[in-house]
Amino acid sequence: MNQSDTGMDLFFEPRSVAVIGASNTVGKIGYKLMDNIVTGEYRGKLYPINPRDAEVFGLKAYTSITEIEGPVDMVVIAIPASFVLDEVDKCAKKGVKFLVIITSGFSEAGNIEMEKKVVKAARDGGMRVLGPNIFGLYSSRVSLNATFGPKGVKKGSVSIITQSGALGIAMIGMTASEGIGLSSIISVGNKADLDEADLLDYLASDENTRAIMLYIEGITRGERMLGSLRRVTRKKPVIVIKSGRSKRGAMAAASHTGSLAGSDEVFDAVMRQCGVLRAENLEEGFNWLKFIAEAPLPSGKDTVIVTNGGGIGVMATDACEKYGIELLDEPELLRKIFSSSMPSFGSCKNPIDITGQASEVNYREALLAALESDRVHSVMALYCQTADFEKVAYSEMITLIHNEYMRKHKPIAYSLVGGEEVTECVKYLRGRGIPAYQGVYEMVSCFGALYRFRENRLKEVQEEVRIDIGTEAICSMVDGALKDGRDFLLAHEARAVLEAAGISTPKSVIVRNIEEAVGAAERIGYPVVMKIVSRDILHKSDAGGVALDLDDREEVMDAYQLIIRNARKYDPHARIDGIEVSEMVHKGLETIIGARRDRSFGPIIMFGLGGIYVEIMKDVSFRALPLSRSEAISLLKEVRSYPLLLGVRGEESKDIEGIIDVMIRVGSILRSVKRITDMEINPLFVYERGKGVKVVDVRIMIAKDREE
Ligand code: COA
Repeated sequence: MNQSDTGMDLFFEPRSVAVIGASNTVGKIGYKLMDNIVTGEYRGKLYPINPRDAEVFGLKAYTSITEIEGPVDMVVIAIPASFVLDEVDKCAKKGVKFLVIITSGFSEAGNIEMEKKVVKAARDGGMRVLGPNIFGLYSSRVSLNATFGPKGVKKGSVSIITQSGALGIAMIGMTASEGIGLSSIISVGNKADLDEADLLDYLASDENTRAIMLYIEGITRGERMLGSLRRVTRKKPVIVIKSGRSKRGAMAAASHTGSLAGSDEVFDAVMRQCGVLRAENLEEGFNWLKFIAEAPLPSGKDTVIVTNGGGIGVMATDACEKYGIELLDEPELLRKIFSSSMPSFGSCKNPIDITGQASEVNYREALLAALESDRVHSVMALYCQTADFEKVAYSEMITLIHNEYMRKHKPIAYSLVGGEEVTECVKYLRGRGIPAYQGVYEMVSCFGALYRFRENRLKEVQEEVRIDIGTEAICSMVDGALKDGRDFLLAHEARAVLEAAGISTPKSVIVRNIEEAVGAAERIGYPVVMKIVSRDILHKSDAGGVALDLDDREEVMDAYQLIIRNARKYDPHARIDGIEVSEMVHKGLETIIGARRDRSFGPIIMFGLGGIYVEIMKDVSFRALPLSRSEAISLLKEVRSYPLLLGVRGEESKDIEGIIDVMIRVGSILRSVKRITDMEINPLFVYERGKGVKVVDVRIMIAKDREE
């Protein structure tokens, strides 16, 4: 998508801006906005609008937007909520393109209807709305600081989109003190119209933006947002900070899948799937942002650690393992690169330990050797304060080396460990835009983010696998159940859904008397399983409505009578639709495949190993749909018990292809039939490779109110 295709060019580069609520009264938001726009030296035309004063900030003020003669691209609104709608109507008449509604008191305060009216009036009038309930936006393209945050925003290459206004204002301060320059910062507030997806699509192609940070509290229109994230992360690093690791979303869930899909786990998995870098907290996020916005992309995966201390070398090695960073491990090559700069007592194994006795010259030479070598793709420079540490000399040396690396397009960062002088040294270097850290982990985690971004760029575009799943047959099954007043499918209906989608289920027949039961069992072949079929009995085992492993006609006859008796006792009013006789499935490795409509992200799929793995260890993983084949494989690999699928202790490996096939078909069902809200195949028995998989039980929940 090109910038101009997004329709957002005039949002980031308005040629003229009007402020409704512009004020001469110090302390008012309308004053602060004018002050920031004027002192920020906005490059377009500025029109203050105020019903009382003839001039605001020395500029001619207008009593109404309609009085302005020239075109107005953007209007910033900072008047009380009750007056906003009238002004929006006037803006529509004027042909304004974008509204930036600072005003609070809309949906966040329960005033949902008013917010809807404002957005409708705006959209009908051909306008898009940012907000309401925001601190505004800053865009370096036209030097527009239409916020009531701090002045003097530093221009640069980072864009921030934030849902929290107060935190956003604080972030402007943090970027300034960290020396991070901004390309834009946008407060999205209630996201009544424009949201992250609209902005990301533009920023993906914005040549002024190298890295993007998102602060998210809640997600609306998640499926659309995931599409934008997938596109943008192939081009630019996107760092996300999400607050509220809450499990509330999961509590209302109807199925097992639902209770495992705690909103945070899903968020985490889905962000990873989209190539987004999720930071634990603001500090980590800003560390990554600063590093990643400046560092060149490494040309390969081989990293070298140069250190004058063995201990911190080991710490950094551990951290590299945690963050998936690969250390160059070719002893001969390392010796060749480093032997000339290495004192006789040093070690040429990676981490390259030149030891505490090494001189500053040795240290410098070792770093330069790493930077010069084509086989080293990134460098971590660790330094432990020694007795003769000279902070000025060290800082100068690092500054020189850093400038050298800039020319060589190789990422390098510095971690210093020691006392007060080291603290001062780090401060000095950071003040000059050099990525220096006091902690080893902080530095390594920045490289981790950079490498994950690199991997993401190299990843092939994921194609959704499309298969025919007999949508018509599935829909008629769902419609029938809905007409019947149910929000779930009966077992045989659920199985018919799977069969229609090409997922084979155990052979089974519903019978209504003993003779039919025996006939069915003989046709299916012994052993068989029998289960009660009743719309009033959801938990069949609790009702004594299940009999397993029935080997002959006598056992079938006895079971029939017992099941009916048990069901009557359990619920005398239960409507009994019959008894289901099915093939007894041989035991395989128990797995679970679930799918549901997440309130934020739309359809998601879950995989886990069954039994205790899922019950106790909650060893499951998630993906948002649509699912490509390679995503399905990575989903399987993510569960901790994945080695069980590969076969342990001489066992054959399991039929992984069979699992993937079922996952892709389940995903397609959920994507195609919106009235299906939850599906769970539990257990799915998996046999040895080539011997397939077998659905033992499936549950499907449905709802009327889904738009197809
Ligand atoms: N057209 C143009 N100007 C108008 C107007 C209209 N229809 N109605 C009022 N004004 C003028 C007022 O005369 C006043 O100017 P003055 O100081 O010269 O008298 C100015 O606009 C502001 O109006 P006022 O009624 O004084 O409102 P206020 O400044 O007290 O409050 C808001 C307005 C928007 C700041 C307030 O309603 C609000 O929402 N505050 C919270 C904002 C917020 O926190 N947003 C989220 C941040 S994350």
